[in-house]
Amino acid sequence: MIEKINEAVGYIKSHYPETPLVGIVLGSGLGSFTKEIKVEKEIPYSDIPHFPVSTVEGHSGKLVLGELSGKKVVAMAGRFHYYEGYPMQEVIFPIRVMKYLGIKTLLLSNAAGGVNPNFKVGDLMIIKDHISQFMPNPLIGKNDKEFGPRFPDMSEPYRKTLIEKARSIAAAKGIDVKEGTYLGVTGPTFETRAEYKMIHVMGADAVGMSTVPEVIVAVHMGLPCFAMSVITDVGIREEENVITHEEVLEAAKEAEPKFTHIFKEMVAAL
Ligand code: HPA
Repeated sequence: MIEKINEAVGYIKSHYPETPLVGIVLGSGLGSFTKEIKVEKEIPYSDIPHFPVSTVEGHSGKLVLGELSGKKVVAMAGRFHYYEGYPMQEVIFPIRVMKYLGIKTLLLSNAAGGVNPNFKVGDLMIIKDHISQFMPNPLIGKNDKEFGPRFPDMSEPYRKTLIEKARSIAAAKGIDVKEGTYLGVTGPTFETRAEYKMIHVMGADAVGMSTVPEVIVAVHMGLPCFAMSVITDVGIREEENVITHEEVLEAAKEAEPKFTHIFKEMVAAL
């Protein structure tokens, strides 16, 4: 994998020689966050050697490089999901590429279903921990010591100092943010009522189809992570309630100003 990473990094560097300090992964419906970036270079995934190409609506599929809050950043507008059919090695490929581009911190976002009964649509949730459920671990296979150890510690996948920073940014602006555990599933089906209940019983507050593999790989490489979910639907409910991808995108869009503020200030503080 290292050769492929080097080729991808080489290609990106040939178009953008600066070293980004922060990597940002934008979730479903949050792609317009790139408007905040003073864009210096945009590279479609399809141009980058060995990059998979995103197929989901709401994901535009490009790397956006430039300046945000006075820092050089690289943002992924569109990520790769296991449910799209990519092997895990491809899902996490861009994370390794960003690490080898030189990022020192990874910020991730996603749309998620709330299973904590105190959550409502449009809430933001700082991810304090995760449960990897029904998702193959991206580190299965021969371990490359170049990246990290065979048995990586996962006691603090989401860096406490970054969580505290996000809390204080939100508090200073009067933004209500929830905190909780994110449970990662493969999708693409949304959960059944029984599954939402089970996920809550298992100790999670939100459920989604991304982030966990990316964070595992980042932590394996020693990259500090921070992640935030936008709660786009609530799984625990009494009455009939159908979830659509359009609803998810709509809710994400509504929460975007709060999300944008926190992520911008996080980058400023790094
Ligand atoms: N379940 C899984 N993934 C999701 C959900 C959900 O309810 N909402 C947004 N992504």
